[in-house]
Amino acid sequence: MRNGTASRTAQYMAFFRALETQAPPDRRLFDDPYAFALLSGALRQFARMANFPILGRMVRAVLEVGWPYTRSSGVVRTRAIDDLVCEAIRCGARQLVLLGAGFDSRGLRLEEAKSVAVFEVDHPATQTEKEKRLQAFIGQVRTNIRYVPVDFEKDDLEKKLIKAGFDPRVAAVVVWEGVISYLTEAAVRATFGLLTDLLAPSSCLIFTYMHKGVLDGSKAFPGVRRWRSWVSFCGEPFVFGFNPDTLGDTLRSFGFALRSDKSTEEIAQQYCPALGRNEPGSQAYRVAIAARAEA
Ligand SMILES: C[S@@+](CC[C@H](N)C(=O)[O-])C[C@H]1O[C@@H](n2cnc3c(N)ncnc32)[C@H](O)[C@@H]1O
Repeated sequence: MRNGTASRTAQYMAFFRALETQAPPDRRLFDDPYAFALLSGALRQFARMANFPILGRMVRAVLEVGWPYTRSSGVVRTRAIDDLVCEAIRCGARQLVLLGAGFDSRGLRLEEAKSVAVFEVDHPATQTEKEKRLQAFIGQVRTNIRYVPVDFEKDDLEKKLIKAGFDPRVAAVVVWEGVISYLTEAAVRATFGLLTDLLAPSSCLIFTYMHKGVLDGSKAFPGVRRWRSWVSFCGEPFVFGFNPDTLGDTLRSFGFALRSDKSTEEIAQQYCPALGRNEPGSQAYRVAIAARAEA
């Protein structure tokens, strides 16, 4: 991330969610009534333009030509994670931790999240900006949502979560969406290690990751070269990935058991045909679920 400025990739994700929210209700993957309000500058103008028929077609056409897999992968992952979070809460999780929450408002958007303690963890530069924009839009944020500023590269996440009221004895669902790719291996390992110690046994962790083959050049996927240069241009290059073939073993070494691992291409096929849509998702970008391994 560029020093002292809110994450740009987080703002682009909010832009994609704002566009998704403009789709006809029967074709929408989800509703994010906060996404537009959280945008600023050119992205806000583009999202406003996208509401008009001809301009909207132009904005969408540019995205489809420029970043078809990026947008598509982003919106299908959001829908899948929304469903997984709701299911985890219905199954007993009483705490929701959003690691690198960015400009997403899952804690406000999801009905199920209203009844649990929500911890929004993010880099201080992104979080300060989000809180400011959200306050301007809705005033006071609900009291079950706590903001926890953390830099995964240097801060003590455990200490900060506990100080914010996180209870390690209570089942939690932890979401780490769209973040791991931007962290060093050391920060990823340290965070997994800490979560192993911190989470109550019936907790689960939902995370997204980039296929390691993209980073070491051993695999090519449609659209990923442009995607990589775009995030680098944003000052947030992809630096870390997992190999899906060995993810189970890797997670076991961190103290987690892999429950599910799907590409966003597979997730798109799961959700989009029923909505009359044909989204590509991406073979390179994946959503995984892990549970604390039995001792
Ligand atoms: C692509 S955005 C994803 C945001 C959100 N989860 C979503 O899917 O819309 C990446 C997020 O990672 C956060 N991030 C990147 N590096 C970080 C670090 N070292 N410590 C804490 N957060 C970080 C950014 O602030 C940003 O919110």
